[in-house]
Amino acid sequence: MAKSTMDQDLSKVLFSEEQIRQRVQELGDELFERFKDRNPLFVGVLKGCFLFMSDLIRACQIKSEIEFIAVSSYGDEFASSGNVQITRDLQHDITGRDLIVVEDILDSGNTLYFLTQYFKAKGAASVTIVTLLDKPARREKPIHADYVGFETPDEFVVGYGLDFKQQYRNVPYIGVMKPELYQ
Ligand code: PRP
Repeated sequence: MAKSTMDQDLSKVLFSEEQIRQRVQELGDELFERFKDRNPLFVGVLKGCFLFMSDLIRACQIKSEIEFIAVSSYGDEFASSGNVQITRDLQHDITGRDLIVVEDILDSGNTLYFLTQYFKAKGAASVTIVTLLDKPARREKPIHADYVGFETPDEFVVGYGLDFKQQYRNVPYIGVMKPELYQ
């Protein structure tokens, strides 16, 4: 495979492809045990979730359905505006459903705080949050994930779905952006 032109923009690898693969399988196994008799609905929060979601649902071989919702609170800014807007809504009724909400990162908590209320108001029977990364140092809202892939330090992380100005999502591992590129 040709060498990546993006590696040089990252100061270090935080979680390797192999670490991610192993952890996603562990999460898939845990979800399998908890939800195998419940026909859950996986709800991915676009866009950041797309790689994690696709790997997680294959790591969890239960009868289930998938849905996506897209929200925006950052735009291209570094800090969450706190104003969460739905840019693509659910396409199906979630009344009475057990939701497994799949996120790439839980940061300020604004997004998942908003979405949890939203899904409950729409009649979800339960909302279980799975996030690949958790950055507790930045939390502004009282929200916690039920399943966390990795706790991550307060650094600018990209890759495996996470972006910097919409780029780097296709880096196959999670790395840290060189500060000189965004400061
Ligand atoms: C990111 C990420 C989460 C949210 C987490 O989305 O995917 O949805 O921020 O941050 P919070 O806990 O501070 O709300 P972003 O708005 O960058 O859009 P994207 O998923 O399209 O990258």
